[in-house]
Amino acid sequence: MVKIPELRTERLLLCEFQPEDAAKLKRILEGLDVLKYFPSDKPPSLERVERLVVEHRDHWGKFGYGWWAIWTRENPTLIGWCGLNFLDETEEIELKYLLDRSYWGQGLATEAALRSVRFGFDTINLQEIIGIVHPKHVASQRVLEKVGMIRVDEAEYFGMHCIRYKRLNQKPSLNGDTATRKGRS
Ligand SMILES: CC(C)(COP(=O)(O)OP(=O)(O)OC[C@H]1O[C@@H](n2cnc3c(N)ncnc32)[C@H](O)[C@@H]1OP(=O)(O)O)[C@@H](O)C(=O)NCCC(=O)NCCS
Repeated sequence: MVKIPELRTERLLLCEFQPEDAAKLKRILEGLDVLKYFPSDKPPSLERVERLVVEHRDHWGKFGYGWWAIWTRENPTLIGWCGLNFLDETEEIELKYLLDRSYWGQGLATEAALRSVRFGFDTINLQEIIGIVHPKHVASQRVLEKVGMIRVDEAEYFGMHCIRYKRLNQKPSLNGDTATRKGRS
């Protein structure tokens, strides 16, 4: 089993979900509007959330990356999730994030998302990361823009019409220009 890395930002700790986090995560998912722009806004049962925690470990084991539990470093509190998710249908890697409603509006999603993208590009050398978001979900679109993603098109994901964003892993080349590992797009 891969060891899920612990990452720190100025205010956050990104770490593995523990089975005992499921009940707290369930309460976060029950917050007003937290699932408003998800394919289903019905909060999941405790059993489903427990399965999510197991699936998160399995995902890390299978791909060597995944998503983390987000904890505040001051007064340690579980406040959501963030990280990288493989989409079976399109074989793309998606940046995902979700925060407890009472922590919105402090730049925390951006802070966690930036760290996840840095892990994806600098630590495991992914070539590209996408973001998918409901057309009306302006806050999430802003997060994607703030982590350097560009809007590319619109597409259907999980039966939902979405805007698709993308960021390529652009490394400086020897002549000072930038290029992706497999050329440009
Ligand atoms: C989307 C979400 C993660 C944003 O978290 P957050 O910590 O509040 O985000 P940040 O503070 O890092 O930044 C949000 C940006 O959106 C802007 N924003 C926030 N709410 C907004 C709104 N209702 N309308 C327009 N812009 C909004 C903020 O001003 C900020 O941009 P700015 O820095 O240019 O001012 C949070 O609302 C959430 O968890 N929602 C539920 C789960 C979810 O929808 N996840 C994304 C699925 S695609």
